[in-house]
Amino acid sequence: MALLEWKQAFSVGNASVDHEHKQMIEQINQLYELLGQPTTAVTIEAVLGDIHAYISAHFALEERLMRTAGYAEYENHKDDHEDLLDQIHELMFSFSENPDIGRKLLENKLSDWFGRHFASFDARLHRELG
Ligand SMILES: [Fe+2]
Ligand SMILES: [Fe+2]
Repeated sequence: MALLEWKQAFSVGNASVDHEHKQMIEQINQLYELLGQPTTAVTIEAVLGDIHAYISAHFALEERLMRTAGYAEYENHKDDHEDLLDQIHELMFSFSENPDIGRKLLENKLSDWFGRHFASFDARLHRELG
C-alpha cells in the first residue's frame, strides 16, 4: 500500500504546482516501497539523490517567487522547507545503517510533512502569488 495519497485538500489552486507536489508524493511512495524490498545501498542512494534534487529545485522556485514578491511569510516558509531537507539528510544516514530504520523514519516523521506543508504554507503562498 502506498505511504502517501494525494487528496484534494492538498491542492494549492495552481495545476502545475499541484503536479509537482504529486510527483513528490509519487517519489516518496517509490522510495518507501524500495525500502521494503531486498535492494542495494547504491539503488537507495540513487533514488534518494533524485528525490533530493527534485525537491530542492521545487523549493528553489518557490523561494525565488517569494523573494521577488517580498512575501511576508518567506522566512517561516523557507524554514519549513529546510526542515524537510534535514529530514531527508537524516534518512540518507539512517538507511545506510539499516533500511528498516529508514522506513520507520518515513512512516513516523517525514510522511506528515507533505500534506501539512502543501495545505498550509503552499496554499497560502499560491493563493496570494498565483
Ligand atoms: Fe511546494
Ligand atoms: Fe513550499
